[in-house]
Amino acid sequence: MNKITVQVPMQQAGSYPIMIGTGILYGLLDHIEKQFPKKSLFIITDEKLVQAGHFKLLTGDKNIPHYVITPAGEQSKNMTTLTAILETMEKYRLGRDTVVIGLGGGTVGDIAGFAAAVFKRGVPVVHIPTTTVAQADSSIGGKTGVDSSMSKNAYGCFWHPAAVFIDTVTLSTLDDVQYRTGLAESVKHAAIASSEYFVFLEKNCDAILRRETAVLEKIAEYNCRIKASVVEEDPTEKNKRRILNYGHTIGHAIESASDYKLLHGQCVAIGMIAAGKIEKAMGLVHDDRLERIEKLLTKLELPTKIEGGLRAHPAVSQLMDLLALDKKAVGKWPRFVVLEKLGTVYCRESQWAIEVKPEIVKQVIEEMFYD
Ligand SMILES: NC(=O)c1ccc[n+]([C@@H]2O[C@H](COP(=O)([O-])OP(=O)(O)OC[C@H]3O[C@@H](n4cnc5c(N)ncnc54)[C@H](O)[C@@H]3O)[C@@H](O)[C@H]2O)c1
Ligand SMILES: [Zn+2]
Repeated sequence: MNKITVQVPMQQAGSYPIMIGTGILYGLLDHIEKQFPKKSLFIITDEKLVQAGHFKLLTGDKNIPHYVITPAGEQSKNMTTLTAILETMEKYRLGRDTVVIGLGGGTVGDIAGFAAAVFKRGVPVVHIPTTTVAQADSSIGGKTGVDSSMSKNAYGCFWHPAAVFIDTVTLSTLDDVQYRTGLAESVKHAAIASSEYFVFLEKNCDAILRRETAVLEKIAEYNCRIKASVVEEDPTEKNKRRILNYGHTIGHAIESASDYKLLHGQCVAIGMIAAGKIEKAMGLVHDDRLERIEKLLTKLELPTKIEGGLRAHPAVSQLMDLLALDKKAVGKWPRFVVLEKLGTVYCRESQWAIEVKPEIVKQVIEEMFYD
């Protein structure tokens, strides 16, 4: 097992380990019990993780109090599920000495983190991420939350995990679309922070699509190191952490306009291409980075254009309106994260997200539609 330690200067124990390995699920509970002696464990997972056998592999013969989220996926990421979980914990008479374990993708992780943060005013959470999104992104950084009937991640808080355990074998049961879509966050990390990682992804596309565990371990390590270092520098997203938003500003607008029919990673892939076109329109590009990003995304079978003509898909004006509503907008217009070169974000006057004129964005979006 590889061990990366993340320093979180603000909360709880001050730092937490991220362990990466292949086939580590079996026996992991013994390890967690040793790491948290005299604590009661409570596992939160979802029905697909149970069906795929990962829950059984983790728990073995142990009878650990747990809650299985049903149905699995985003539709259950709400206050009703959160309340049901907290009440289940109470029924088990769990107290402040509880450790919550989240076994699953970003949905499970976001709810488990939130439940841990508010149960008896806060107990530790351990994440065992099982999707490409969760292993690259959501399990690290401490963002938790649930959706409201009106918006995504409407309620939540920062609650950093006490430990993260990544088992690349869990990815073997993930469906193909979810698997590939989540790789967009890996491309994002490489583009914003490591040209070496970008080359690694370029060279290993086939092995990645074959889900070769050695390559997946390496990817997990790159992702964790990159996300951890950004989060360490700016744990509550005051400035530098904004770079993780690369590809996400236009990406979120597309996701929302498609009424969440397009998956997050697909929208981020399109958003990264949009960011590249913005860089070009602003005269910031003197290399072939946009072409390389486009080629890599295509090899990973991720979209690079906005599909037009379909009812579920957005119109340019709708996207512009949605951009004005962006959570991080300043004066009704968002700032954009763009690259200086592959592996480095463009920073102007100490700002990692910069102003881009709406005309440029509109022109880029128009260019990106296809029928
Ligand atoms: N907290 C953060 O920083 C952060 C970052 C990125 C995304 N997120 C959140 O994460 C969520 C998306 O996460 P996701 O993409 O992991 O989706 P998900 O957790 O909804 O999982 C997708 C589907 O795959 C199933 N699944 C998960 N692991 C599996 C496995 N190993 N084998 C078989 N099936 C499996 C799930 O049951 C679900 O049906 C969103 O709610 C998003 O807001 C949070
Ligand atoms: Zn994302």
